[in-house]
Amino acid sequence: MPDAPLRLAVLASGRGSNLQAIIDAIEQKRLRVVLALVISNKAEAQALERARKHGVPAVFLDPKATPGREAYDAVILEHLRKHDVGLVALAGYMKIVTRVLIDAYANRIMNIHPSLLPSFPGLAAQQQALDWGVKVSGCTVHFVEEGVDTGPIIRQAAVLVTEGDTAESLEARILVEEHRIYPEAIQLFAEGRLMVEGRRVHIR
Ligand code: GRF
Repeated sequence: MPDAPLRLAVLASGRGSNLQAIIDAIEQKRLRVVLALVISNKAEAQALERARKHGVPAVFLDPKATPGREAYDAVILEHLRKHDVGLVALAGYMKIVTRVLIDAYANRIMNIHPSLLPSFPGLAAQQQALDWGVKVSGCTVHFVEEGVDTGPIIRQAAVLVTEGDTAESLEARILVEEHRIYPEAIQLFAEGRLMVEGRRVHIR
C-alpha cells in the first residue's frame, strides 16, 4: 500500500498569495500533499478566506486569548497534533516562532522570505535590497530555527533588479518566483528528498 500523503499546515497572517499557490499546486497535482489546516493570528486574514473557499479547515487563533509567545505556540501545537500535521509552512506569518514549535517540529517548519538570504532578513526585504543597490535579489525557502530568517536554505530563485524598480514592482516579480519555488520545496520534502546536514540541505 502506498504511504499516506504528507499532511501540511500553513500559518499565515495576511494576503495569502503563497497559500493560494500551494492550493493551486495541490489542485493541479504538482504538489502531492493534503492541506490539513490553515492557522492565522489575524481574524481578517485573506488567507483564511482562501482556505475556506477551497474547503480547507481554517482557524483564527487569537494571540490575546493566550498571552505569551510560548503559550500561544502551545495552542498551535495542539491544533497541529489534532490534525496529524507532518510539515508546517509559514507563508507571510508575522509572528516569531518559539522553541515550543521548533522543538516539536525540528526541520519540519519551512518559511519563505523575499530576498536571497542571508541578505536582507526581517521586514521590508525588497526595500532593503533596493536601498542597498543590489542588482540581483530574489527569494528563499528555508527551514525555520529560532533566529529570524536564519535556518538552512532549501531553495532560492534570483530576480534581476532593474533601473526604475520600486519596492512594489520588485515585490511583484519576486512573488512570481515565490509562488513557483514554495510548492516545489514542499514537494521535495513530501518525497523525502531533503537531508539537513548542519547548515546545508542536500537534495537527493
Ligand atoms: C511574501 O513576500 C513572503 O515571502 C513573506 O511575506 C509575504 C507574504 O505574502 N514572508 P502572501 O501573504 O503569501 O501573499
